[in-house]
Amino acid sequence: MKLWGGRFSKEIDRQMEAFNASIQFDWRMWAADIRGSIAYARALERAGLVSADERDALIRGLEEVAWEFESGEFVFLPSDEDIHTAVERRLRERVGAVADKLHTGRSRNDQVATDLRLYLLDEIPTLRRSLTDLQKAIVDRAEEHLEVLMPGYTHLQHAQPVRFSHWLMSFFWAFARDQDRLRDMERRVAVLPLGAGALAGHSLGIDRRYLADQLGFGAISENSIDAVSDRDFVAEFLFWAALLQVHLSRLAEDLILWSSAEFGFVEVDEAYATGSSLMPQKRNPDSLELMRGKAGRLIGHLTGLLTTLKGLPTGYNKDLQEDKEPLFDAVDTLRLALPVAAGVVRTLKVYPERMAAALDDGMLATDLADYLVRRGVPFRQSHSLVGLAVRRAGELGLPLRALPLPEFQAISPAFGPDLYEIFDHRRSVEARSSEGGTALASLREQIALARKVLKDGC
Ligand code: ARG
Repeated sequence: MKLWGGRFSKEIDRQMEAFNASIQFDWRMWAADIRGSIAYARALERAGLVSADERDALIRGLEEVAWEFESGEFVFLPSDEDIHTAVERRLRERVGAVADKLHTGRSRNDQVATDLRLYLLDEIPTLRRSLTDLQKAIVDRAEEHLEVLMPGYTHLQHAQPVRFSHWLMSFFWAFARDQDRLRDMERRVAVLPLGAGALAGHSLGIDRRYLADQLGFGAISENSIDAVSDRDFVAEFLFWAALLQVHLSRLAEDLILWSSAEFGFVEVDEAYATGSSLMPQKRNPDSLELMRGKAGRLIGHLTGLLTTLKGLPTGYNKDLQEDKEPLFDAVDTLRLALPVAAGVVRTLKVYPERMAAALDDGMLATDLADYLVRRGVPFRQSHSLVGLAVRRAGELGLPLRALPLPEFQAISPAFGPDLYEIFDHRRSVEARSSEGGTALASLREQIALARKVLKDGC
């Protein structure tokens, strides 16, 4: 079915028809399209544009078409350019001429923007739940491994000892921000374009607030030109998805590195690993590699859409049809990535002895500097004095704790025999009891707060 027959005297070119079509991907908005049309039929009746009988016929017909989609019986025709065309074509086949009244005052421009928003609003709760599930997995595992210490890294060099749980919980908060962004964004997705017509509004008395209520939108777009031009909500969602995938990618990268033989801190469960077709011994963390790889894909979708939008003249342009595939793909990607990430975290094998074995004396140098600070040495000085001690121990081929007291005292008389007490990784960790720090008490507080965030609904 062609929607614009009147002024054309020629058939569309076959390849142009394929190029123009979006049905191969926008079919998945069928439920949103039908929901929008049912609300629209009601609004038409309220505006006196169709009779109550006609409205009921339209609604019944649309419900029948919905049922055909649900049961897999809907048959697409090669002439169905997009989901809007397909639904209207089928409606006409089922209810006859009254179907021609449904599009009164409506354009595919306000229709498609409405459908896409409805589609996204339907997907958001599932994504939110999967993300919450991942956060729960993180908190559970953090609680389970409270006593495990490991090297903390900056520049991927040994920095200071931290709790494994502390590292793990750092991702909880990144995901909490993702939850927050999603909640905030949802408000902007739930703005109704329908009733904007092609761009100028309509002249037929259709009540847009009524439409918004019917469809569960919190607001209507205040400018009909903006309503059909705006794809901010898609760009925002793609940014959200890309950043979330970047968080997943960082988590993945740490775990990939730590599951290597050189580290051996963790092992990815077999359910989330694959083998090699050639090397029998291999157990590759493919789940995590894909977690990392998909970030590139989602960043690509965001850049792709922004590039599509940047030069567009105001109003609907067919370029906007390019908004859907990245959006659908971002949703599909996260619908798998999130539960897989939760599964990897839940089943991850942790090797505390390997982590403990990687702790060294150098990581306690800051504690030694703090020791001097407590003895009245200004930090800049204590930092360089400890640096000298580290260098001297290196010259003598000794670990720092084996450097004899006279050597320390030759560097500074502020060093006393009690300095050796700082050579205890657990003590170092427990000393960092600031809010958000790595001490047991701080971490327990952090975990309690995280549980509260989860309970209050994030
Ligand atoms: N398939 C189109 C899209 O996805 C629907 C809107 C078409 N509007 C138009 N004026 N040609 O954007």
